[in-house]
Amino acid sequence: MIFDFHDQVILVTGAAGNLGQAVSFAFYAAGGSLVLVGRWREKLVELFNEQIPEDERGLYVTADLSAESSVAEMVRVVLAHYGRIDILVNVAGGFTMGTAVHETAVETWDFMLNLNARTTFLMSRAVIPSMLAANRGKIVNVAARAGLAGKAKMAPYVISKSAVIRLTESMAAELKDHNINVNCILPGTIDTPRNRADMPKADFSKWVSPAALADVILFLASDAARDVHGAALPVYGCS
Ligand SMILES: NC(=O)c1ccc[n+]([C@@H]2O[C@H](COP(=O)([O-])OP(=O)(O)OC[C@H]3O[C@@H](n4cnc5c(N)ncnc54)[C@H](OP(=O)(O)O)[C@@H]3O)[C@@H](O)[C@H]2O)c1
Repeated sequence: MIFDFHDQVILVTGAAGNLGQAVSFAFYAAGGSLVLVGRWREKLVELFNEQIPEDERGLYVTADLSAESSVAEMVRVVLAHYGRIDILVNVAGGFTMGTAVHETAVETWDFMLNLNARTTFLMSRAVIPSMLAANRGKIVNVAARAGLAGKAKMAPYVISKSAVIRLTESMAAELKDHNINVNCILPGTIDTPRNRADMPKADFSKWVSPAALADVILFLASDAARDVHGAALPVYGCS
């Protein structure tokens, strides 16, 4: 074990997803107490019941992270349970592409901005006051390589992940003097079942694995990254 997260409370959004599971298992293996956030409790129970049981080191909570009241209520429940959140990992997010800007439905624009940028904003906004009160904390956001530059037929996604990078930088500037580190990672294509199904001819060995991304997230959440503020770390594998 490289990092030790004993006595630390780590909240992971999108815990039931591909990357969220890898991140949750990695923090748990490093001794952390996990708050697993998903949309459906049954899914969390099915995925985590055996390896991260609900006990003093495991708590399952549900929320729609794009809804302000749902996020506020969920964070209230977590703080009532653990008394603090030491580390927030904003993994929840998603992808869609396929239309040029002039053909893109307003619903698609709203969907991407809500799913990637609004969820990160709402979660961070809800958790930061408790970190400020504790004068310590770590926030790790999951943006994307695609957030670095515009691409054809991908504008809503690219812009939503660009927003996560800029949000990361803004929060880092606001919080660095309060012993709170805010950084993000930029995954390239992740080796997930969905990506394998969508791109069957690709060389999967070039993609970055969820476990490798989890290692980088643990580093950014650790004391080893105490002087890193506002970074957007590329984690592309060999693609
Ligand atoms: N896959 C890639 O190649 C890739 C590349 C670059 C960046 N990323 C980013 O990496 C992160 C994880 O990707 P992934 O492939 O692991 O995705 P995933 O398997 O689809 O997981 C995403 C998770 O977000 C949750 N979620 C979505 N909307 C939500 C909402 N309104 N409230 C609460 N939770 C919500 C989903 O919950 P449910 O389980 O309830 O559906 C799901 O567990 C995302 O931010 C993604 O944009 C992915």
